[in-house]
Amino acid sequence: MKNDKANLKTHPTWGGRFQKPLDPRVEQFHTSIHFDYRLLPYDILGSITHAHMLAKQGLISQDEAALIQHGLNKIIQLYQAGELVLDAKLEDVHMNVEFLLEQHIGEVAKKLHTGRSRNDQISLDIRLFLRDAIDDILHLLDSLHTILQALIEMHQDTTMPGYTHLQRAQPITLAQHLGAYSAMIARDKQRFQECRARMNYSPLGAGALAGSQLPLDRHYVASKLHFAGIIENTLDAVSSRDFAIEFCSTSSILMMHLSRLCEDVILWATEEFAFVKLDDAFATGSSLMPNKKNPDIPELIRGKSGRVFGHMIGLLTMMKGLPLAYNKDMQEDKEALFDTVDTLKSCLGILSPFLQSLHFNSNKMAQAVKSSMMNATLWVEKLVLKGIPFRRAHEIVGQWVLLAIQEGKDLDTIVDTEIKASNGVCRS
Ligand code: ARG
Repeated sequence: MKNDKANLKTHPTWGGRFQKPLDPRVEQFHTSIHFDYRLLPYDILGSITHAHMLAKQGLISQDEAALIQHGLNKIIQLYQAGELVLDAKLEDVHMNVEFLLEQHIGEVAKKLHTGRSRNDQISLDIRLFLRDAIDDILHLLDSLHTILQALIEMHQDTTMPGYTHLQRAQPITLAQHLGAYSAMIARDKQRFQECRARMNYSPLGAGALAGSQLPLDRHYVASKLHFAGIIENTLDAVSSRDFAIEFCSTSSILMMHLSRLCEDVILWATEEFAFVKLDDAFATGSSLMPNKKNPDIPELIRGKSGRVFGHMIGLLTMMKGLPLAYNKDMQEDKEALFDTVDTLKSCLGILSPFLQSLHFNSNKMAQAVKSSMMNATLWVEKLVLKGIPFRRAHEIVGQWVLLAIQEGKDLDTIVDTEIKASNGVCRS
């Protein structure tokens, strides 16, 4: 049969069964290298391990594996030096690496993809990337936790109003208030640790979807890459992204917590509250109003929570209708994940020094406690301890509060006169 493909430049990776080159508009549309280049160090780590496994299994020679490793190391060096030229025509990070490898070491590069598909490769790369990202985030959460703990230690006796419905409710300490956030952050840490543990299984060897008839050693690859084991079901290995969604959901919960903490600080920094003064180095001014000092940092963190929640919903929506196994829709997960990681790191990175820089106004907080009737519940409980039924005690103190409001006195003065007037027995 005449080979009329000889002069046709079909695709270098799958050109065998194609009779036309890819339309340049398709090339431009489906390329992902402008964002997935970030996975390059993980892609190379996976490839080096894969090559060693191939050699161990006798599928390539030890010399070939060594040459492949040498070539891949060269590529990573160029990448780190910012000297690597990546080509959008080569679609994604995997094909760029393979092409560059061939330029460096020649034909042997063609053996690297033995027993592997980009489908198990990308699932591996994202897991390796997220594992590192989680370690960085855990580290940042540790710093935040330490700073919160130091503030908690410092403010054991700093009384302040506690709020419900944003109305003064009962006296608390600043330590108690910050302690609530510290507890939330501790749970966030646990969630990230658990998410990491659940994603820490190797998909490599799953191939496109059905594994391979080649004698691959999936466990070897998994243990070399410090995974807890392999993902047994090969379809699951290539087509599940629940680990990515779990990461986004864990990140969303964390951002919701950070956003609430920021909202508290924003309120406290208003002239109306004045519980806290922003440090000049951590606040911004207005281009128009010379009097302004704005809490941009907590506002931005509060604002950035939106994009993180959005990524979680984006991934859930992207995945919900996909038939098994891999579908190209899944390429859309990268930007969401990268942006989630970047947002979390930048927010955590700035929140810790920001909290450290705050100047709390303990006098103002104590004054706010004194000037209101927040000890009303304490009085109810004192009456309960004297044997008065709770509902009755509530009503009695309610009447004292009303009297205090009507006479413009503070609650303690009213309680004093009322108790004296009733000879220690409470009037109804
Ligand atoms: N760039 C692709 C992604 O991010 C890699 C996997 C491509 N697989 C394929 N069969 N086209 O998902």
